[in-house]
Amino acid sequence: MADHDRPHVLMMSEITVDGKLTLRRGASSKILMKYMAPETGVLLHQTRAECDAIMVGANTIRIDNSILTVRLVEGKSPIRVIPSNLADIPPDANILGPDARTIIAVSEAAPAERVARLRERGVDVIAVGEDYVDLPGLMRILKEDYGVSRMMIEGGPTLNWSMLNHRLVDEIRLIHLPFIVGGADTPSLVGGMRIETEEEMIRLSLKRHFMCGSNLVTEWILLYGDEGAGEA
Ligand SMILES: NC(=O)c1ccc[n+]([C@@H]2O[C@H](COP(=O)([O-])OP(=O)(O)OC[C@H]3O[C@@H](n4cnc5c(N)ncnc54)[C@H](OP(=O)(O)O)[C@@H]3O)[C@@H](O)[C@H]2O)c1
Repeated sequence: MADHDRPHVLMMSEITVDGKLTLRRGASSKILMKYMAPETGVLLHQTRAECDAIMVGANTIRIDNSILTVRLVEGKSPIRVIPSNLADIPPDANILGPDARTIIAVSEAAPAERVARLRERGVDVIAVGEDYVDLPGLMRILKEDYGVSRMMIEGGPTLNWSMLNHRLVDEIRLIHLPFIVGGADTPSLVGGMRIETEEEMIRLSLKRHFMCGSNLVTEWILLYGDEGAGEA
């Protein structure tokens, strides 16, 4: 159930049968996205158009140089939100372009000159958190100061883990790609720290599944605790 002081959050990702988000560590997810059915590309952009904001981690920006706008359907592009602890955003990043509004969320440890350079590019820079971006605090600011009611996150695994760990995700929508890429260190849907016990498993409930072109799409509701978990 969403808290009223933060946006409703949908995590959306394309994912291989073995749960990976890219071909190998350091590779852009755009390589795999080429294999999405055209209808699924439209679904992705339709979902963006239905959201007030879209968030991806700074490492995805550094690797994929994402644009994060609505292009395949009519509609307004959401506000782009990028957390980066030390304001480490490349000067040629597409999200610094004029196509949509952009917020860079940084920690108080971010160097002032980097922050100033980003502001010169016309983006909003929000400092929230001492050494790391305080994601729950950022969610409250997005809701209260920017009127964000619905937000999607498009990865990567490090940000996905942090958002789930703070219980800030309400729904997950996965676009399943019919490939296996392997690789023990290839990024999967959720990175971060491993859990130690089964009590820590994050529980979900399947809401819907459907075919979009040739891709299976599954939609999940986050339960977090053990509600709805039956005896095996
Ligand atoms: N298949 C897909 O749908 C999909 C989608 C997105 C990404 N990807 C892939 O995922 C890979 C990148 O994933 P990644 O795990 O390395 O990086 P990531 O999750 O994209 O970004 C992590 C970065 O976010 C910033 N951050 C700031 N505050 C944070 C917080 N509280 N918690 C977590 N992160 C915070 C940090 O940036 P600083 O280092 O600047 O402090 C951190 O290094 C790429 O290969 C990309 O292609 C795939």
